[in-house]
Amino acid sequence: MANTETAQPFMAAPTTHPALPAVPMLDLERQYAPIRDEIIAALAEVVDSRQFILGDFVSRFEQEACQHLGIRHAVGCASGTDALWLALAAVRIQDQAVITTPFSFFASVSSILRAGGKPMLCDIDPVSFNLDATQVKKVLGNAPEHSVAAILPVHLYGQCVAWENFTQLAKEFGLALVEDAAQAWGASRGDIKAGGLGDIAAFSFYPTKNLNAAGDAGTVTTNNPELAERTRMLRQHGMRERYHHDELGWNARMDGFQGAVLSVHLRYIEQRNALRREAAQRYHKLFANAGLAENRVYPEQGVVLPQEIGGGRHIWHQYVIRTARRDALRDFLTAQRVGSEIYYPVPLHRQKALEFLGYEDGAFPEAERAAREVLALPIFPEIRADEQERVVRAVAEFLS
Ligand SMILES: Cc1ncc(COP(=O)(O)O)c(C=O)c1O
Repeated sequence: MANTETAQPFMAAPTTHPALPAVPMLDLERQYAPIRDEIIAALAEVVDSRQFILGDFVSRFEQEACQHLGIRHAVGCASGTDALWLALAAVRIQDQAVITTPFSFFASVSSILRAGGKPMLCDIDPVSFNLDATQVKKVLGNAPEHSVAAILPVHLYGQCVAWENFTQLAKEFGLALVEDAAQAWGASRGDIKAGGLGDIAAFSFYPTKNLNAAGDAGTVTTNNPELAERTRMLRQHGMRERYHHDELGWNARMDGFQGAVLSVHLRYIEQRNALRREAAQRYHKLFANAGLAENRVYPEQGVVLPQEIGGGRHIWHQYVIRTARRDALRDFLTAQRVGSEIYYPVPLHRQKALEFLGYEDGAFPEAERAAREVLALPIFPEIRADEQERVVRAVAEFLS
């Protein structure tokens, strides 16, 4: 089963998988086995109703999503990438800059370009790996008036950005706040869940995400009725009235099967997020007990553990350690049949496709250092304690 975060064709988990590592990064078979009948029944309902595109199953999921997040509008769409594009197009960024992080999945920047905007990158905070508001403030201070339309912080690895700092900046500079909440369903800052923090937000339901579809899907969320209406219009080729196109939209519709499957998964998401939190606590303890945890920002001999910053609820979509000899450790883990992954090995300003943005090597030292040191370890709701012990034993063996 593919353990990649995205970008490669998703390989559905087979019923038996002899090739699965001893400790996989993710095992969807364990997630699907207990709810297989519910999923099959939900899919059968879609076949029987033949509501294949949008329709009742998508509307029902949209309503349930609103309830779960405590938000007014959800607009289901075809992927997280489409959700980002729709959200940015809805707030109108044409020819203006959008500030975001160089340490994220490619879509965080490519969707700004697709929506007609100009990505403006700022470095990250080395502890949370999220966009650093002090860097953003510096950049805003030097930007010509009205040249920046929005800030797009990414809630990386399932932890919300320190949002209050961005609310302040948005007010001061008159900007829209767009959340990339692709990895953070159920995470929160104070009493507010990701998806309801900014003016508008984008989620991905790629099968490896914590709230996942059985294929590609995403949603836009907002409390603003005008942005919701605009997003719905853009999702259907810019149509408000059938075959009357007010703007250049796109086909970004969610299909009925995904809506139906997402409604099933939504019933379990709180329980699954709680299990992720337990698994993260267990890793913290295991690393501390093994004497490997270094209480510092950058690693020396051991590993720096990921932290939950105060004032928020992390849902541990990923458990990402920092270590100095990352690549050698990863090779060792692979040889031990312990899964791991690097999110992300190349910061976005160093991607070939984005060279034209003109950022040099060294432009964002924190993002560049993180790209060399981060390693995501297996975490998913069904992971067993003995598997986590095995992961930590393997890391200890390498570092000893
Ligand atoms: C931070 C981030 N943004 C955007 C996306 C794009 O989502 P999707 O793969 O559903 O298009 C992803 C998913 O991989 C992501 O992790």
